[in-house]
Formats: sequence, structure tokens, C-alpha cells
Amino acid sequence: MKILAIETSCDETACAVVEDGQRVLANTVASQIDIHALTGGVVPEVAAREHVLKMIPVLDECLKDAGCDWDDIDALAITRGPGLVSSLIIGTETANVISFVKEKPLIPVQHIVGHIYSNWIGSGEEIEFPALILTVSGGHNEIILMRGHHDFEVLGESRDDAAGEAFDKVARILGLGYPGGPIISRVAGNGSVDAFDLPRAMLEKDSLDFSFSGLKTAVLNEVKKYIAENGSRDESEIDDEFKANLAASFQEAVCDALSLKLMRALEQNPSVLEVHIAGGVSANRRLRAMVEERLGGKIKLRYPGEIKYCTDNASMIGAAAYFMYQLEPEKYLPKTNIVPTTSFEI
Ligand code: KG4
Ligand code: ZN
Repeated sequence: MKILAIETSCDETACAVVEDGQRVLANTVASQIDIHALTGGVVPEVAAREHVLKMIPVLDECLKDAGCDWDDIDALAITRGPGLVSSLIIGTETANVISFVKEKPLIPVQHIVGHIYSNWIGSGEEIEFPALILTVSGGHNEIILMRGHHDFEVLGESRDDAAGEAFDKVARILGLGYPGGPIISRVAGNGSVDAFDLPRAMLEKDSLDFSFSGLKTAVLNEVKKYIAENGSRDESEIDDEFKANLAASFQEAVCDALSLKLMRALEQNPSVLEVHIAGGVSANRRLRAMVEERLGGKIKLRYPGEIKYCTDNASMIGAAAYFMYQLEPEKYLPKTNIVPTTSFEI
């Protein structure tokens, strides 16, 4: 079954054609990173306007790359939310019109569920349930127990800043640019993880929730202290060694908190057979290594096979949609009208 998927929840106009939930025939993305780098973050109206400009060209290019015409496409998939509503609506309206005109079933996918299915892409293997999933993105962090396809229980979630958001804000505090994750991890490579003693908010004894706002404030305080002590005008005058040390200590603190929570979740759910990491921050090498180390080879660990499937993409939406369709094919009909939602409910 070939699904054409569309994802426009934030700042990437993305289309993909995915066969049987695992084989990507085309994955086309128009990134807006260069535009949002100018403002140090995403301005929703700017993102929406870019989606309007890029949606149809990306769609055309994707079908061409996949070597498909509309007759080859069995169904459509679309990110219904959560995300920026003005961005989501460009994708949902495009999908609604195609579903109507081309009479294709339309499958609405929750964005975080899409990230979860990025681990199915290209794996070519049977994934064993129950699986414990750590989703780490710019806007959300969750620990989810997955008992079967689309059978989820949320065990923990972010109470304030998500991990990716913390990376982006700390990069901004250090004057390093946008998006923060890849830059922080690169700069951290030259620093010492022990240079600063930063907090790991573990919250209540059994809690699987996350909090990164205290860590972000601790970083901000270190920068203010540096500026005051060195008489610097602003972050542009901070020396590279200080930046590298703070980036390394920060990254270590985030990865430590995430992986410790994951281990806590594993202790509470001993029947788990696999552990997965998904979402933009799953691209982080230190996080992968720390989780691997803490699992000690006892449980299968998966993260997306390619970096492009960690961050937002439409292939993951097509993968998630395929398994939704397999469970309830009668539910998804042509001429469907999907309304975007900001709800986090899965
Ligand atoms: O999943 P995603 O593409 O978008 C959302 O759904 O939010 O995640 C984007 C986030 C950004 O905050 C970005 O800084 C972070 O993922 N990110 C990383 C890395 N690559 C992207 N964070 C840490 N290390 C990375 N290598
Ligand atoms: Zn995402």
C-alpha cells in the first residue's frame, strides 16, 4: 500500500511516499531554517507563508521522486497536530482538497505518534511489544508505553520546557544561533562535561515527568555571572572555551535527566522488550550513547536510522498512517475534511 504523506506542523514543508509503512519511496523537505535563523526562532506567520509557497512544488517533486502518479497512491496521510495552527492548516487544507478531488482515503496522524513511527522506517524487522518510547522534540517530551500498534499509554511528559526547546534557548543565551540542538552538540565536543555543576530535576520519587526550565535558568545565571565578572557587553564577547564548557555541561545534564527517567520507567515496567528514542533530540549522539550505556546491552535500543527521520519529516507520518489503516481500514474515507488541532492527546 502506497501512502502519500504531508507534514507542515512547524517550519518544514514535507511530503513523502511510503510503501507498507516501512519503505520510503520519496522523502522531500523544504526547510525554512535559513529564514528562521534570522530571527533566532520560528515566527508563525512567516512559517505559514513559506508553506503556502512551497506546498505544491514539494508535492510535485515528491511524486516525481517516487516515480508515482496519482493512480499509484492508495491513501493520503496528514499531520493533524499538535503544532503551529497557521502552519498545520496549509497541510490539512491541501490534503483535504486532494482527498476530495482524487477520491483518496485521508488518514489524520498525531505528530508525536508520527515521531514514534520513525523507528519503523527502513527497519525491515518485526518490532517487539511492549516497547518503551522516549519522545524528545522541540515542543514535547514524553515517555510512552506502547503495547501494540497505536496502543499507547503516556507515562510521563514535560512540565515546562521540552528538551529541544531547552537546547534552542541555551544556544540563544550563548549567542550560538538556531536551531540550537546541532550547534550545542558540536560546540560541546570541545568542552568539559564537569566544568559546571548543573541541576538534574528528577521531581518526585516515582515521577516520569520532565522539567528543564531550572536547568535553563542555571545556564542563564552562569552567563550573567561571566558577563558581570569579565565586564563583557553581551554574549558576543564570551570566549569560546567558556561556551564549549557550558554547552558540554548543559548537554550532559539534559541527557542524564532523560536517560535516568527512561531507566526509572524501565524499572516500573519490567515486561518491556524494546526501548526507542524518537524526535529531533534523538539525533543527539551523547543521548544515544548514554542510553545505550545505561541499558547495558540487556534490551534492544532503537533510534531512527537516519538523522533526517529524527527531525520533522513526512515519512514518519506515512509510516504511522499505514498501521492506523491496517487496524481500521473502514474508518478512513475519501472526501474527508480534517481540521487541525493543538491537542496533545494521542
Ligand atoms: O522533532 P523536531 O524536529 O520538531 C518538533 O516536533 O519539535 O525537534 C526539533 C528539536 C529542536 O529543538 C532542535 O534543537 C532539536 O530537535 N535537535 C537536537 C539535535 N538535532 C535537533 N537537539 C540535540 N541534539 C541534536 N543533535
Ligand atoms: Zn516534531
